[in-house]
Amino acid sequence: MESETQISSKSQQTMRNIILVGFMGSGKSSIGRELHRNLGYELIDTDHVIERQVGKSIPEIFEQDGEKAFRQYETELLEQLKRNQISKHIISTGGGMVCSLKNRSLLKELGFVVWLQCSGQEILERTSQNKNRPLLQCEDPMNAIETLLSERSPFYQETAHLEVKTTGLSVDEVSCGILESARYYYGSS
Ligand code: S3P
Repeated sequence: MESETQISSKSQQTMRNIILVGFMGSGKSSIGRELHRNLGYELIDTDHVIERQVGKSIPEIFEQDGEKAFRQYETELLEQLKRNQISKHIISTGGGMVCSLKNRSLLKELGFVVWLQCSGQEILERTSQNKNRPLLQCEDPMNAIETLLSERSPFYQETAHLEVKTTGLSVDEVSCGILESARYYYGSS
């Protein structure tokens, strides 16, 4: 697997989770489902949990409560997961989760963080049919993608223990690579 570039050394982590970060459309949900199938760890999709807890869809939250409130819900959810000391879960996060320093720190405390990378063009192709992402509902989504990608890439990089370039790899290949690296990180076989 050509894509693994950075793996940190073994950890004393008590919360043994695998956390997926990355831009909208980078494959976090499908890779999350595959890891869940492979490992049997429960899957937490932060967007879905927030929708359930708030009782609104993501577009409704953005429209009625605003993006700032949504970011607050994201932080509160990470704090809740930490408080509950959840372990052996796959956590698939929203693309903007890494934007606050507090979230970046909470994500690292929760476990092994994996950044799924893909190109702006791939993101555009994967997200163009979907109207559920308020930040891409604009006249020039490619421009929005490029701007946000360049703003956020340093945050993904700072947070992740592992970076995976997913271009040209199947869901199975990506998840096998993640599993191998997570085993190394947690020091088990
Ligand atoms: C967002 C990404 C979305 C969702 C919300 C905001 C972002 O999640 O949390 O629309 O700021 O990048 P996905 O990355 O799962 O699409």
